Amino acid sequence: MIQVAPSILSADFARLGAEVAAVGKAGADMIHLDVMDGHFVPNLTIGPDVVRCLRPYTKLPLDAHLMCTYPSDFVAAFARAGADYITFHLESCDDAADVIALIKKHKKKAGISIRPETDIADLEPYLADIRLVLVMGVPPGFGGQGMSPETPAKIAALKKLVGRRKILIAVDGGVNPETAPACARAGADILVSGYYVFGQKSYRKAIAQLRGKP
Ligand code: DX5
Ligand code: ZN
Repeated sequence: MIQVAPSILSADFARLGAEVAAVGKAGADMIHLDVMDGHFVPNLTIGPDVVRCLRPYTKLPLDAHLMCTYPSDFVAAFARAGADYITFHLESCDDAADVIALIKKHKKKAGISIRPETDIADLEPYLADIRLVLVMGVPPGFGGQGMSPETPAKIAALKKLVGRRKILIAVDGGVNPETAPACARAGADILVSGYYVFGQKSYRKAIAQLRGKP
């Protein structure tokens, strides 16, 4: 069954712990934490201290999606804070192999995210060393944007490129019950969704709907 990772970007930031616990209870498989530095993307969100405070609210894996210009500066802090996956942007650094090595040194799972305009072929040199690819369906920075229509085809091509390697393919941005089925058919393993999940009264129903269950 496809996994759902609610993105807390659209949660109530005054009640983040309760929100994380609530989506956990509602059937989420992973929690997606959007970290923005106001430089790589034109928005600011949370740092490692918030992740540390959220850690006790769920046993689910936490994925720290770093939208930061200098990801290696933050790996140790997010690892200590309790992130399970540390996912950085390929476009944010010219030393991706070093960032991956640092994440692995901290015994965390390395993920790479790519913007909609980035070619999946750019991931090839790193596929042997990562556990997750986060395909952005929108330009990173803000929740609630519409998914670029090329996203499912990109996921399908990535699935082919990944082959038999044990790499999870996650899609992030614009995921809702209308866009999720094509992403799932294309081979996505994880649907990241903030705006849709946290915009619904019933998180349980929202998560089930993303999985294609009415
Ligand atoms: C955007 C973030 C996403 C976002 C999810 O920069 O990385 O995680 O919150 O997108 P929506 O809100 O469309 O589900
Ligand atoms: Zn994200």
